[in-house]
Amino acid sequence: MGEEAGQSPPGRTTSVGVPKESAEGERRVALVPKVIEKLQKRGAEIVVESGAGLEALIPDEAFTDAGATIGDPWSCDVVVKVAPPTSDEISKLGRDTTLIGFLAPLTSPETIEALRSAGVQAFAMESIPRISRAQGMDALSSQANVSGYKAVLLAAQESTRFFPMLTTAAGTVKPATALILGVGVAGLQALATAKRLGARTTGYDVRPDVADQVKSLGAQWLDLGIEAAGEGGYARELSDSERQKQQEQLELAITGFDVVITTAQVPGKKAPTLVSAKAVEGMRPGSVIVDLAGEGGGNCELTEPGETVVKHDVTIASPLNLPATMPEHASELYARNVTALLELMLSEGELSPDWDDEVLAKSCVTRESSAGGTSADTAQPAPGGDTDTKDTTSEGES
Ligand code: NAI
Repeated sequence: MGEEAGQSPPGRTTSVGVPKESAEGERRVALVPKVIEKLQKRGAEIVVESGAGLEALIPDEAFTDAGATIGDPWSCDVVVKVAPPTSDEISKLGRDTTLIGFLAPLTSPETIEALRSAGVQAFAMESIPRISRAQGMDALSSQANVSGYKAVLLAAQESTRFFPMLTTAAGTVKPATALILGVGVAGLQALATAKRLGARTTGYDVRPDVADQVKSLGAQWLDLGIEAAGEGGYARELSDSERQKQQEQLELAITGFDVVITTAQVPGKKAPTLVSAKAVEGMRPGSVIVDLAGEGGGNCELTEPGETVVKHDVTIASPLNLPATMPEHASELYARNVTALLELMLSEGELSPDWDDEVLAKSCVTRESSAGGTSADTAQPAPGGDTDTKDTTSEGES
């Protein structure tokens, strides 16, 4: 476009590519039509791969109607993804491309190494610090809300009993009792959802701070006297003696519940075992365990990640990637998180991250050295920042 007299010069634009996700079962898409206008106002030009939104029921026309173009996303200045890129996908990224997505920096160092060798500037959504200012970018939280909600629906579906108390002509049915082990974001959402379905709820965690949040959701707090708050608002790993004490006490507590939902994780570590085989054996036949920690090996000793199995007449489901099973809202929330991060970097069409900003400095896991060489500095992925206030149940989120 030529510059005409009296007109300001055309501003720069940064192209942002949205590929179709390739991971098996991944139905989410990194941007949705609703956020495109916002990004365009910052000087972004959105290029969507044909069919990228189809699994989330978003046709190409919905993207083009919102102002995006359909084309090759891999040659854009910025590529936004949901799942970590495959090696094939990394080979399509040019040097100096910026990549944003879940990159598993703590559990998949080889992906980070490959991105660094390819000269890609990469931002991991997992490494965004859990501080108030970054809540709008917190994709771990937005997606954990989906998992917590869906875990309860799965438990209700697998259960041989009602969740709510029922008073019928045929008699009264007692409400189900649900125990949520690990009450971070997913756990709080599970407590809220199980309560809405009418169950009597109880929450347990090793971070004593969450007791008040559990009680504010109308649930009981299970206190086992073990405190293990770690850095950045996360839990630390338990010592051997703490672990043994926890398992013994949980074995007794778990037997009284119809439903147990587990979400316990320690960043970068194997998921802790909270439900022993003995505890499962002690549960009433027909009870249900939904283990959300399957990706880290599971919180239940009898869990088979990705499978639903029946052991001692107890159903144990360990679904992987639950957010992908609700692609419409999961994509919408994720797209808002990515947009908030992009807004922090984009100014008048120019991608200019401020490295003094802790959100950008901590979420950037590979970047080109300022000397301009081919090697890249690596900003270490941080499992979390200074956790201060939080709004983790996201009751009003839609
Ligand atoms: P997560 O997914 O890392 O872990 C889930 C839960 O498991 C946590 O509550 C953790 O304490 C618990 N857990 C770990 N080991 C356990 C064990 N052995 N026994 C029992 N429970 C165990 O947690 P998530 O949901 O990612 O939250 C991490 C932190 O970030 C929390 O403090 C959360 O409140 C905070 N946060 C802060 C936000 C902010 O903006 N300030 C936003 C979102 C989360």
